[in-house]
Amino acid sequence: MNSHDLNKVAMGVLMALLFVLGLNNLSEVIFHQDPMAANAYPIDVASVASASSANVVVDAGPTIAEAMQTASIDKGISVFKKCAACHTPESGGKNKIGPNLYNVVGKDVATTGDFKYSNAMLAVEGGWTYEFLNTYLTKPKDAIPKNKMVFAGLKKASDRASVILYLRSLSDAPIDLPTVEIAEVEEIIAN
Ligand code: HEC
Repeated sequence: MNSHDLNKVAMGVLMALLFVLGLNNLSEVIFHQDPMAANAYPIDVASVASASSANVVVDAGPTIAEAMQTASIDKGISVFKKCAACHTPESGGKNKIGPNLYNVVGKDVATTGDFKYSNAMLAVEGGWTYEFLNTYLTKPKDAIPKNKMVFAGLKKASDRASVILYLRSLSDAPIDLPTVEIAEVEEIIAN
């Protein structure tokens, strides 16, 4: 092969290369897709709406039934240290600044014998349901205005759930645990 032939071969290779590159570019031009186009699917308004209303529910905090799914008695015992200055937990325990709390979950409000309740507390009708305990322990002053429990409240839903689970255990016959709706269970699993 002389240098002239070599040049021809090189030229041929170069042309082939240019041809392939050219094809590539050409197909890019013809079949080019905006990378954003792949993401630009139409927004499903219904799903966005339900997602944002679900967020509103989450902002309101879990229900006590939901929060109790992940509560623990051990944690409740530890939270109860905040209550122990004023309350005894055991059966037959004495009243301190506040009434003994044995059997309190499910019992009528302000009915622990020989404790002098405030009029505000005595005026409450009904019993200590999980929901009402949860509300009361969040901010006692707001839940029952003028009651005389001088306690700011437990801010964390998980602390309230655990202490309520512990209070529930302070009984010869603890009442049933609160039930969570199927939809709520799915939400807990999803989160
Ligand atoms: C500084 C004292 C004090 C602390 C701390 C305190 N409590 Fe109380 N608690 C009271 C008093 C006083 C009452 C009675 C209120 C009334 O009669 O108005 C009361 C009432 C209650 C009642 C209603 C009992 C019934 O017989 O109806 C519950 C339930 C309760 N407390 C739970 C708790 C829990 C749980 C904690 C801790 C997270 C706690 N308290 C912390 C003083 C306290």
